[in-house]
Amino acid sequence: MERTLAIIKPDAVSRNLIGKIVAMIEEAGIKIVAMKMLKLTKEEAECFYYVHREKPFFDSLTDFMSSGPIVVLVLEGEEVISRWRKLMGATDPAKAEDGTIRKLYGIDVEKNSVHGSDSPESAKYEISYFFSSLEIVGSC
Ligand code: RTP
Ligand code: MG
Repeated sequence: MERTLAIIKPDAVSRNLIGKIVAMIEEAGIKIVAMKMLKLTKEEAECFYYVHREKPFFDSLTDFMSSGPIVVLVLEGEEVISRWRKLMGATDPAKAEDGTIRKLYGIDVEKNSVHGSDSPESAKYEISYFFSSLEIVGSC
């Protein structure tokens, strides 16, 4: 059994797409075990995306991620890290497969509507960044 962190990014929240994206998660049979809305500061976004600190898009990405409210979720299930990334689609919406969230709703390679952890290690760090164990259903 795995857990992963999902984020509905500011471009999607601002276009009233929370419900549609949550519905796609549920329709895919993926279980949601925690969910909340918040707005990151620039510094908090930098801390979350620390692994990308050397990338040329880091400053723009952290400006974007702190530009408006986001929804963070913990998803749980077998192979949920890869299942959620498959449902998200490729980073660049122009290259994403039909039926994926980024194909449907992504605007460009940065404003691509959703985030998903890329490994069990990053999922652990990212979930603990936003949630205490008491906020995750079924943690004890
Ligand atoms: P994510 O971490 O958000 O789930 O997306 P990802 O794994 O598909 O992409 P990653 O390489 O981890 O990049 C993180 C986020 O940075 C923005 N990005 N901008 N301007 C660019 O070339 C560029 N490349 C990536 C995107 O918002 C991407 O999701
Ligand atoms: Mg990533």
